[in-house]
Formats: sequence, structure tokens, C-alpha cells
Amino acid sequence: MNCSEREIESVKIAGMLHDVGKIAIPDSVLLKPDRLTFEEFEVIKTHPEVGEQILKPILLFDQERNIILHHHERWDGKGYPDGLAGADIPFLSRILAAADAFDAMTNNRPYRPAMDVGSAIAELEKNRNSQFDERIVDAFLKIL
Ligand SMILES: [Fe+2]
Repeated sequence: MNCSEREIESVKIAGMLHDVGKIAIPDSVLLKPDRLTFEEFEVIKTHPEVGEQILKPILLFDQERNIILHHHERWDGKGYPDGLAGADIPFLSRILAAADAFDAMTNNRPYRPAMDVGSAIAELEKNRNSQFDERIVDAFLKIL
């Protein structure tokens, strides 16, 4: 996708640190095996901002902080924390969002078992242009 070496390095670092804000979320919410209540989901939704704040004193992660802050935005504007849409979402956050969704779907979660790769691909394709930037889904599936 014509990323520079610096951008590739940034998305790699952000990929490793993107959920660091979950450290502030109680296990009772984070590991809950059932569907989350509205209030519990509101707590989960704080993790990108908490993560961004945790990394703030480390100047080295200046670029990565912004990627992390927006990794749950959606292409259609229905994400969080800021409800950014389309090209207003930082490009590297959009890449992270697609990769993170694939990783989440294909791994076991407290509330559901891992999905097979074919079903995860179908899910990404289904959400091209709603949750995800379609160009990123296409590039990701091409690599896959
Ligand atoms: Fe996250």
C-alpha cells in the first residue's frame, strides 16, 4: 500500500501495543464469558484513549499513539472513540483495525471459540466499506 519503512515500523509497534489500555479494565469485564451490558461496553471503549495516555510520556511513541487512539474507528463512522469516518481515520489505524479484527476472529475469546480462516475472510469481505476501508481489506486478502 506504498507505506514507507517508517510507517511499516510504526504500524508494527502500534500492533504490539494497541491494546495496552486494557490494563485498566477490570477482569470481570475483560474476561466476561457472556454478552457485555451497555455499561460494560462503555468501559471497554475507554481502552484506546487509556492506551494513548499510557504512552504519552514516552516521546518515542508519538506517531504510534495516534494509531492506537483510533484503532477502533470504523470506515462508516460508527466506531470509537471519536466516530471518525473514511479518510479522516488515520491510514495506519485503518490497517491496524482490519488486521486486529482478523486476529480477534481467528483466536479464542472468553465469549466464543476461534473462527476458521475462511469464515473470518468472509466476515472481512462482508464489512468492506462499512467497518473497513475496502482497499485495505483487498490488500490484506491478497497477502493472505
Ligand atoms: Fe482494541
